[in-house]
Amino acid sequence: IPLLLGLTLLGYVLGSIPFGLLLTRYYGAGDLRSIGSGNIGATNVLRTGRRGLAAATLALDALKGAVAVLVALAVAPLFAARAEAFAAVAVVVGHCFPIWLKFRGGKGVATGLGAVLALSPITGLLCCVIWLAVARLSRISSAGALAAFVAMPWMLAPLRGEGFGSPVALAGFVIALLVLARHHANIRRLLAGQESRIGGR
Ligand code: G3P
Repeated sequence: IPLLLGLTLLGYVLGSIPFGLLLTRYYGAGDLRSIGSGNIGATNVLRTGRRGLAAATLALDALKGAVAVLVALAVAPLFAARAEAFAAVAVVVGHCFPIWLKFRGGKGVATGLGAVLALSPITGLLCCVIWLAVARLSRISSAGALAAFVAMPWMLAPLRGEGFGSPVALAGFVIALLVLARHHANIRRLLAGQESRIGGR
């Protein structure tokens, strides 16, 4: 139990590192909070016009998600499933509600994808394909993210050879709900046909 708590805390702290904010600040790309959607994620970094920084944000936010899960797996092999599940949820919660930003964090897409890639590489890859395909067709990043995370929990457990009652399956549903909840403003804009397009006006 203390180990599980430690891994959860580590996941939260890892998740709460706001790479998008740090990178754009360090490289003088402006204040993400006052650009575009005001979000700290890669999509909004892209709106600064700095593609490299956006790619780095995406990669680092995904990496922290994967690292949290892989550390849990390495440290707690005896109860791996529970450790992975707690770490995965914790890292996404950390990204979405970082203590350093007064709990105003990101939307959990890149971090969630990183965690899912570590939990089940094939599920993670399928989610990336869905995300990229929908985002490309619609030219709306949030639409791709929402499609990927609606599909994710239905693939995660089966593709791990588990039932829907397993710890990781439950973690998948919690993460998906979190990502959907964090997109409430995007969903409203999508329904109103007002969501901003990638590279668009
Ligand atoms: O990755 C987050 C994306 O789904 C939406 O971001 O900045 O358009 O709200 P944003």
